[in-house]
Amino acid sequence: MVDGLLQVEGGRPLSGEITVRGAKNLVPKAMVAALLGTTPSVLGNVPLIRDVEVVSGLLTLHGVQVDYDQTAGILRLDPSRVEAAHVADIDAHAGSSRIPILFCGPLLHRLGEAFIPDLGGCRIGDRPIDFHLDILRSFGAVVDKLEAGIRLTAPDGLRGTVIELPYPSVGATEQTLLTAVRADGRTELRGAAVEPEIMDLVDVLQKMGAIISVDTDRIIHIEGVEELAGYRHTALPDRIETASWASAALATGGDVFVHGAHQSHMTTFLNIFRKVGGAFDVRDDGIRFYHPGGDLRSIVVETNVHPGFMTDWQQPLVVALTQADGVSIVHETVYENRFGFTKALCKMGAAIQVYRECLGGTACRFGQRNFYHSAVISGPTPLRGADIVVPDLRGGFSHLIAALAAQGTSRVEGINLIDRGYEHFMSKLGSLDAKVTRLA
Ligand code: EPZ
Repeated sequence: MVDGLLQVEGGRPLSGEITVRGAKNLVPKAMVAALLGTTPSVLGNVPLIRDVEVVSGLLTLHGVQVDYDQTAGILRLDPSRVEAAHVADIDAHAGSSRIPILFCGPLLHRLGEAFIPDLGGCRIGDRPIDFHLDILRSFGAVVDKLEAGIRLTAPDGLRGTVIELPYPSVGATEQTLLTAVRADGRTELRGAAVEPEIMDLVDVLQKMGAIISVDTDRIIHIEGVEELAGYRHTALPDRIETASWASAALATGGDVFVHGAHQSHMTTFLNIFRKVGGAFDVRDDGIRFYHPGGDLRSIVVETNVHPGFMTDWQQPLVVALTQADGVSIVHETVYENRFGFTKALCKMGAAIQVYRECLGGTACRFGQRNFYHSAVISGPTPLRGADIVVPDLRGGFSHLIAALAAQGTSRVEGINLIDRGYEHFMSKLGSLDAKVTRLA
């Protein structure tokens, strides 16, 4: 069954204005945080994306009253009657989302038990949860592996602890925060992720009554408290979606104003965008991204944890690099298998080779482990329309950008996957003067 089919007439510059709302990688976490409150929470700037629908379903399953005003983008969450959910229902609702792993801490605090089905998420590597389970055990949780997933209990409650992360994992940092805020005593988290979405979650938890300090060298201290109340918060804008549209503007020779974009969350992206030959204009209500004319320049870029160049920014940028003059190198150090999307670009005429070596930067964890995690892009290469299948969320958007940049017609299959992280992308394409037709 075709999971959405889009016909794209490429070769036209994207031009116009769009609005980007709350960050896909913050909003679901803030929704889970509401479980910790004894009173209702209100979350603003919430985009209508599949990940929000999935988490709304999971929260409802657990007795939370969820009301969402799509137009205003406001979610009201009332956790006064949290209850255990049935195993099969959680599994059915979770779909491909990895978010259920973050329910553990809050449900252990509220109910003394939690269940995680086998998790999904984009196929961009193994996506393990070992850090998460080690963290929960460190707080005193008991982890039992069952046939259909994992059951956790906390017979002696959850106590503050010291956690040293082997890698600055975003999810593991969120796991620690969501568990430590109501644990008994103090927690010290070392090697934490400090992405803007993490800092926004810290703001949410502090508004609820949590005591959290983010110190230098990735150390976060949390003092557990007896009770947390609901919060009122407006989610930070989605810097990944913003960068995706910026790269689309560059790849198609266009001019796109992104309402809601924040410069301070995108410093590293903006530097790279400028070095490749893009131009941007920061205004109070957003950022204008445009191709100022002239040749795009090849570049060497290495993805990394914040404040480095974000792993989710590289897929859209690679499409623009196929139009840059010379040889570019992208060294992906966060995920081991995040260049699958380049196969479709090569089918359209791009000249991209992937390598197991750590190219262009310092050696990373994947260097000697047989993962094709470095890409070499030679340009400029004219792209021709083709039939392509979307592999994952961010790779899928890159395929869309490539189809928009290519001469001729493309048919992009599996487009529904893009609904997970890009709100109203069809209407946004329309307002950017793209010629696209939904075939299925
Ligand atoms: C979050 O994933 C984001 N997803 C990802 O965005 C983002 O790319 C990633 O952080 C890095 O910024 C959401 O927030 C929903 P990690 P997460 O834990 O938390 C390894 C998108 O398209 N690891 O920081 O799952 C892991 O394999 C998505 O919006 C373990 O080894 O990422 C990876 O190599 C894609 N064991 C590295 O850490 C664990 O238990 C970074 O993963 C957990 C992670």
